[in-house]
Amino acid sequence: MKVLVIGGGAREHALCRSLSLDPDVSALYCAPGNAGIAEVAELYPVDALDGAAVARLATELEAGLVVVGPEAPLVAGVADAVREAGIPCFGPSEEAAQLEGSKAFAKDVMAAANVPTARSYVCTTAEEIDTALDAFGAPYVVKDDGLAAGKGVVVTDDVDQARQHALACDRVVIEEFLDGPEVSLFAITDGVTVLPLQPAQDFKRALDNDEGPNTGGMGAYSPLPWADPKLVDEVMESVLQPTVDELRRRGTPFSGLLYAGLAITSRGVRVIEFNARFGDPETQVVLARLRTPLAGVLLHAANGTLEAQPSLVWRDDAAVTVVVASHNYPETPRTGDPIEGLDEVAAQDAPDAYVLHAGTRRDGDAIVSAGGRVLSVTATGSDLAHARERAYAAVSRIRLEGGQHRTDIAAKAAAGA
Ligand code: AMP
Ligand code: GLY
Repeated sequence: MKVLVIGGGAREHALCRSLSLDPDVSALYCAPGNAGIAEVAELYPVDALDGAAVARLATELEAGLVVVGPEAPLVAGVADAVREAGIPCFGPSEEAAQLEGSKAFAKDVMAAANVPTARSYVCTTAEEIDTALDAFGAPYVVKDDGLAAGKGVVVTDDVDQARQHALACDRVVIEEFLDGPEVSLFAITDGVTVLPLQPAQDFKRALDNDEGPNTGGMGAYSPLPWADPKLVDEVMESVLQPTVDELRRRGTPFSGLLYAGLAITSRGVRVIEFNARFGDPETQVVLARLRTPLAGVLLHAANGTLEAQPSLVWRDDAAVTVVVASHNYPETPRTGDPIEGLDEVAAQDAPDAYVLHAGTRRDGDAIVSAGGRVLSVTATGSDLAHARERAYAAVSRIRLEGGQHRTDIAAKAAAGA
């Protein structure tokens, strides 16, 4: 099977790495890709938001499966354009991707499907905003209704800051604060059958001890030794299956990757958000642990035959990923800085630790930073402590001027806390 992956972040590098190891994949293409993906896939330039261009490329390459990685092309209807060209596509339709594209839509689906989530108000006027902020009190949770690359959410005790963020959005969701650890659980679905993956935890804040601004994610680990072993079954029953059923009932079936961002509160599991694609950086650790070849699973989802997919097989190993970000990420990341030490990681740490590129590009002989999150160092080990040690040993070999990373990814979980 020839597979074309759309996107160019560390998530797409993780997807391409897994697909490149799959014996059923005869050719692997990525568009637009990045400097690291170029080592496992043939790159093509494309405007990932242009459905016609993506469909044309997939047709030219005779792709038997297209995998759309990021949310922006999904919300722009790229998966629909590929399917209209007669090519199986892993990724939801424009309408179903509204589950991520509009927080208000997601809330409406959850209400209809009886899925537990934070109580919320959708506001468009200053008056509505003040009423909602008053109703919930501090800490305030204020979410831009549209796509914001993980940066549209403000959680603060400061009512003025909450109000200012709300007023800057066209439409805003203000909701109840959910206390408790966060879990990301991904499920692959064809719109009917739902196949959960293993849970992971992401670190959203820029700095150690969960301080600093929200980011797209600074690291992740899996499995979660502290979580209730029944968690996946419970979320399947209370969240994933009802959501997939509700979208089908509305005539907009969701096929692709359904990402549930969850809070484990004292009153039970609550959905913080849905995403319509693999999460970044959680994908790096989840796929590091998946033994089942990936292409067949994604193709079953794309073709509506997921029921025929045998159970997924997982490695016993734990996985940890640490994101290395640019100077000034997430505000105004500096780009164009050379990245050194990649060869050392390949020589000294592979295959237990490896670099997945996010914002990188080739500049002559050098590889330079080209985005906020630059790369993600992923490692496996017999347990989280071991995986963590390997990940940070590899991180220490990478040199990026002004680069930053968190030093506490998976630290608490590895220590059994
Ligand atoms: P989201 O983009 O909706 O995932 O929000 C980004 C981050 O903001 C989440 O990962 C949480 O850390 C935090 N957050 C979002 N909603 C809530 C909430 N209702 N209560 C507490 N924290 C939240
Ligand atoms: N890990 C957060 C996200 O992918 O949105």
